[in-house]
Amino acid sequence: MNYANPRIAAIAGQLKGRLDELENKTDILKATELKALYAEIPTLPPAERAGFGKEINALKQELEQLVAAHQEQAEAPDPVDVTAPFDVNTPAGKQPRLLTADQGSRHPLTTELEVVLDIFYRMGFTAIESRQLDDDYHMFETLNFPEGHPARDDYDTFMTVETDTKGRQFIAPAHTSTMQNRVLAQFRPNLEQGKPIAVLLPGRVFRNEDLDARHEHTFHQFEGVYVDRGIHAGNLLATFKTFLSEYYRQDIEIKSQPFYFPFTEPSFELALSCPFCQKQGCHICSHTGWIELLGMGMIHPNVLKAAGIDPNEFTGFAWGCGLERLVMMKYGIEDIRHFESGKLDFLKQFSK
Ligand code: DAH
Repeated sequence: MNYANPRIAAIAGQLKGRLDELENKTDILKATELKALYAEIPTLPPAERAGFGKEINALKQELEQLVAAHQEQAEAPDPVDVTAPFDVNTPAGKQPRLLTADQGSRHPLTTELEVVLDIFYRMGFTAIESRQLDDDYHMFETLNFPEGHPARDDYDTFMTVETDTKGRQFIAPAHTSTMQNRVLAQFRPNLEQGKPIAVLLPGRVFRNEDLDARHEHTFHQFEGVYVDRGIHAGNLLATFKTFLSEYYRQDIEIKSQPFYFPFTEPSFELALSCPFCQKQGCHICSHTGWIELLGMGMIHPNVLKAAGIDPNEFTGFAWGCGLERLVMMKYGIEDIRHFESGKLDFLKQFSK
């Protein structure tokens, strides 16, 4: 910045020099020289006051900018060599800081999952996060897929090299249904006390997929499990319709059609009226007004039995809903791969 007034130019030089030495950079804005310049304005001939005042303001602004730049630099993390070997046991306080807190924000899936959870909490559900590594027993056996069952092929996922005591590999779960047996067994005492089992199971799931705008190898589901006396498919449809209408904040229509899952009988696939165009037809619903969203059904008697629940006394429903698809429809996001891409220009659109 060049100052026309030589005295202001000289003071600007002095103050900038002093700024480098100051510990608390904001002190420069309180410099007596600056105050004295302001005090001088009324003593000047009226014709000179405006020009002089403008230059002092410019100087003050320049100093403010320099102070802000110093602060930003002081908060910036040291550059990190992301290719350097990293010891996972490094204590949290000693790990390199990749971003300062003010540069980061919540991931949209975290924000949206909280909206989902809040709706189900209000309906009396409790929530348990699903595992990211599981076994054949929970992934298939307890869900009524015996060994060699052809439907196992629909859940092609990743497995570890290490095996369990029976020589079976561990599995990166392809759905949150892996948690069904655990929560049915854990909350079985509820039924004896005359209370329902009502659990939401959000979690990360994995599939060996060919990737495209609608398919990711890593995504999220939230499973719902509800068991009590006299529960029927009408309860399931009403619960999910209520959830969808709350989530999209508009009246959502649903339609179900028969489907097959080994762990439910009967099984349905549920479609909802497009919340983006209110059934008028748009690119989100491929101009049909409807979107197929998820699988659901009445929990198969064998699944209840595997958890020690008598299917003659109790019935229940379950669903497994993809979180990304739900969120994509809410915001008109066209490609599922954005979520895991780490692209800041995508993520920043959702930071508050
Ligand atoms: N686990 C199924 C999938 O990911 C979805 C599903 C269908 C879950 C029906 C359920 C259910 O709980 O009852 O393809």
